[in-house]
Amino acid sequence: YLDFVRSSETTGVDGKPMLNKYSTHLTREHDFPGAQAMLFAAGVPDRQAMQTAPHVGIASVWWEGNPCNMHLLDLGKEVKKAVTSRGMLAWQYNTVGVSDAITMGNQGMRFSLQTREIIADSVETVTCAQAHDANITIPGCDKNMPGCIMGMARHNRPSLMIYGGTIDKGYSKLLRKPVNIVTCYEAFGAYSYDTLRQPDDGGDTSKTKDEIIDDLERHACPGAGACGGMYTANTMATAIESMGLSLPGSSSTPANSPAKMRECAKAADAIKVCLEQEITPDKLLTKESFENALVMTMALGGSTNAVLHFLAMAVTAGVELTLDDFQRVSNKIPFLADLAPSGKYLMADLYEIGGVPSVQKLLIAAGLLNGSIPTVTGKTLAENVENWPSLPSDQVIIKDLKSPIKSSGHIQILKGNFAPAGAVAKITGKEGLRFSGKARCFEKEVQLNEALNRGDIPHGENLVLIVRYEGPKGGPGMPEQLKASAAIMGAGLKNIALVTDGRYSGASHGFIVGHVCPEAAVGGPIALVQDGDVVTIDAETNSISVDVSDEELERRRKEWSPPRMVVTRGTLAKYAALVSDASHGAVTDLF
Ligand code: FES
Repeated sequence: YLDFVRSSETTGVDGKPMLNKYSTHLTREHDFPGAQAMLFAAGVPDRQAMQTAPHVGIASVWWEGNPCNMHLLDLGKEVKKAVTSRGMLAWQYNTVGVSDAITMGNQGMRFSLQTREIIADSVETVTCAQAHDANITIPGCDKNMPGCIMGMARHNRPSLMIYGGTIDKGYSKLLRKPVNIVTCYEAFGAYSYDTLRQPDDGGDTSKTKDEIIDDLERHACPGAGACGGMYTANTMATAIESMGLSLPGSSSTPANSPAKMRECAKAADAIKVCLEQEITPDKLLTKESFENALVMTMALGGSTNAVLHFLAMAVTAGVELTLDDFQRVSNKIPFLADLAPSGKYLMADLYEIGGVPSVQKLLIAAGLLNGSIPTVTGKTLAENVENWPSLPSDQVIIKDLKSPIKSSGHIQILKGNFAPAGAVAKITGKEGLRFSGKARCFEKEVQLNEALNRGDIPHGENLVLIVRYEGPKGGPGMPEQLKASAAIMGAGLKNIALVTDGRYSGASHGFIVGHVCPEAAVGGPIALVQDGDVVTIDAETNSISVDVSDEELERRRKEWSPPRMVVTRGTLAKYAALVSDASHGAVTDLF
């Protein structure tokens, strides 16, 4: 495929790499006067710049109405200024996206995962069609980061990513504590089960649950930036920085920090280095760099969504990465970070003690992270962080390697007669390592949410709540579920495990298993389970099973018929027709 869009130019007249080897096809001599007329009209200052300056595309995943993305156009303008001042031509453009938090728990969520593909399609399309020589992407919300990297992998021109940054901490005066988006979601469970109260610490306890939830909604998100815990956005940004695809510190620098603006200026220098040294995505997206992504995700307790996104990025880059790699890395990497959702702190707290580069420095020194991989600075990862401060000795966020939260990673790959092609569990150990309970099946997430709204999920007997027909094809769109897990946490239901062929939000915690494969819509065993069957999840044997014989499952299969496709036109119908299974990243270009 790349031959189709590859430039035939390799070196310039001086024997050095040609920095404008793609755009030169439009701009040399007078080969395409119409194209050059258009480019002059769009802002190329003179003939010299037209014929020699590299064209750098700057893609912000910008739109208003979401804190993760609302500032990305401004970051793009800062990058444009810096790129232009270094003698290159900068072309800003935009991609669409959606807010995971805003769409979560309603039908809009079905559109979220497919935006990863639309972002990748957009970056690939503009870069190749407009003959850009290099590409800087500026993503913010969950699907944005893998979408941008997949776009880079497809066009394979010198590229780097600037993460929009994490949000600051919120504070609720009524609850008298720091709050964030997950505090809001979990309050939903306490609200439904009527246990939302002010702390009984000698202060005011007179506020109603409506006043408390109103206060939370007003203060959980105090400005621009992605959700503050080790949820999907921060997980992906951290991993991508550890793969060498963004500048040191990008993933932990808060959105509102002046350092984020400085990063935009530094990106211009880095993209020039990438052009001059021909550092292309295929040199950065390697098995070694994916290994680093997995190590950071395990050490910091990242989101299960990372599994899906790393698989998708690897498939796109042609790197062989399988579910077994996740289990192998999880087995050897200790879980160190006391970060939300399972822990107490937020990315803004980690920034205060040195940020992600200080953690990388620790893990490189321990031989857990590969410091020799190349990066967009032209240096290795180890060189990038060698002058970064080490984590302070009195910090409490990153546990000592000798006394981790858990001696192995929290992400477990499960297989068994419930999920023959795999499932992904997030098990921090706090919730135990084994769970067995009676199945209660819900055909869509909305049914479970309604049951929780009614207070219809009882305390007491162990239950495995199964939400099915929410996979990549069945959803369609493999919608992300948070409402139920947050409500269960908020309601203090400790007798529950959640299992789905959809996904769980990076903000979820508790005993949860997602990405069950094959999914229900294609007749996976999850479609055949019935209420009352006993389902067992075992993180020690990495298994998920149902106590039903093969013969009985086969009998039920004969009675099963695929559901009628409810979406038959439009973007979701296209997605459902093209999408691969979750164990191959749920991408749309794997034929
Ligand atoms: Fe964008 Fe959470 S909604 S990162």
